Amino acid sequence: MEIELLPPSAAEDLSLIDRVTALVNQVYAESEKGLWQASTDRTSAGEVAGFVRAGEIAVARIDGDFAGSVRVQRLDETTGEFGMLAADPARRGTGVGRELVRFAERVSRDAGCRRMQLELLVPRAWTHPSKQFLAEWYDRLGYRVTRRADLAEDYPHLAPSLATPCDFLVYHKELS
Ligand SMILES: CC(C)(COP(=O)(O)OP(=O)(O)OC[C@H]1O[C@@H](n2cnc3c(N)ncnc32)[C@H](O)[C@@H]1OP(=O)(O)O)[C@@H](O)C(=O)NCCC(=O)NCCS
Repeated sequence: MEIELLPPSAAEDLSLIDRVTALVNQVYAESEKGLWQASTDRTSAGEVAGFVRAGEIAVARIDGDFAGSVRVQRLDETTGEFGMLAADPARRGTGVGRELVRFAERVSRDAGCRRMQLELLVPRAWTHPSKQFLAEWYDRLGYRVTRRADLAEDYPHLAPSLATPCDFLVYHKELS
């Protein structure tokens, strides 16, 4: 498996941008099923192209084939964050997600960050199987919940679109 941070020029590669966008929207439609009122896309080609231009999108390839992606960004001097993590469902369970997280942590550590952050949206009153899996996995990877907030506090523009009350969990992990 090869993982690379896309160069800003890749924002002009519309076929690649479309593949990343389609994968993220496909896997989030499943992992956030029941959380949103209508079928809301997680992202758009325009947004992904912007992230690529900012040097924030890494892609995984297996034998040259696109297998997954992640967004890595620097929040401040000491904190990196990964998000929009997506692995090709046809390759689920083969380590694509794990390697993308490792890559995001390495990029952040190399940039001088001492802490990694991720955010997880979870329904308040019921257990979502995908979110449960992620919570357990992130725990195994060393991430701990440092803040639990109402989505409306951090993303007021998104709250009206929710189908069910959701909490917003902020996880941190110290990078050694
Ligand atoms: C989360 C996601 C990226 C994981 O990618 P993946 O390539 O399938 O996962 P990996 O093969 O790297 O395995 C990750 C962990 O899940 C476990 N796992 C994988 N498939 C599993 C299965 N069917 N049942 C139970 N555990 C499983 C692995 O053992 C591994 O755990 P470990 O690191 O402790 O050994 C992928 O499921 C996905 O795209 N989900 C939808 C989008 C999403 O929810 N993104 C995160 C939003 S915060």
